[in-house]
Amino acid sequence: MKDKNYLALSALAAVAGLFLGTSGAMAAGDAERGKKAFLTCVSCHSAEPGLHKTGPSLANIFGRKAGAIENFGRYSEKIKNSGIIWNDKTLDSWMRDPQSLIPGTLMKIRGLDKATERRDIVAYLKQLASGGGQASTGVETGADPVDLSDPPPGNQVTALNHCRDTYHLKMANGETIKFWEFNLRLKTDGSAKGPPKRRPMLVDGGMRGDRASLVFASPAEISPFIKEKC
Ligand code: HEC
Repeated sequence: MKDKNYLALSALAAVAGLFLGTSGAMAAGDAERGKKAFLTCVSCHSAEPGLHKTGPSLANIFGRKAGAIENFGRYSEKIKNSGIIWNDKTLDSWMRDPQSLIPGTLMKIRGLDKATERRDIVAYLKQLASGGGQASTGVETGADPVDLSDPPPGNQVTALNHCRDTYHLKMANGETIKFWEFNLRLKTDGSAKGPPKRRPMLVDGGMRGDRASLVFASPAEISPFIKEKC
């Protein structure tokens, strides 16, 4: 009997603790936790001002009008015309279900179900916008565009031949690397982090080593750089 009472009591205490715990977290988001939860966003957004990916940088989003970050050229008309201002409430419903807040938006994610997680991310975005959180978050994104402006010779391509279905890449370190044409992606990066003019850079595309990306400073460089030669 005694044991039973004890069990009931401790269960009650556990429930109360849980309840207090969550309600505490709900009252104010935790920016530190938010920074971690932001990992679900970093495949498409950076926390660095001016560094845009699939979506715009979110460094200064809190308190701003939607669809108005400078130099982000991929907004939908829907978000630009939404008239929304990003605050606690709008950011919360956006993260819960972007399509229901702004139907037709290009942010296509399933949405975050956990209210505490959304609140934590809002706290983090708030901190970023107020200059509190460091711009460079220390969050390892893995998806940030690599800085190609000063790469090692092993990544610099000095000549590129196309022979039947194969690209032959002459590297600045003397090596030649071959790729099946279907496995080499030709990309451009015109930002300050992009490669110098006419010095395309090879970046690894994945773990398997049979595919990679070759990044040029601009689209106009691509065809002239490739020689049809076996
Ligand atoms: C798959 C890519 C993707 C993911 C993941 C993603 N977003 Fe987005 N996000 C976008 C795109 C694209 C837009 C621009 C939407 C448009 O133009 O309609 C956007 C827009 C936004 C905006 C509005 C920006 C502005 O300038 O008004 C906010 C805020 C935002 N995202 C927050 C988040 C947060 C927080 C997360 C993580 C929980 C997240 N996003 C995850 C792609 C993504």
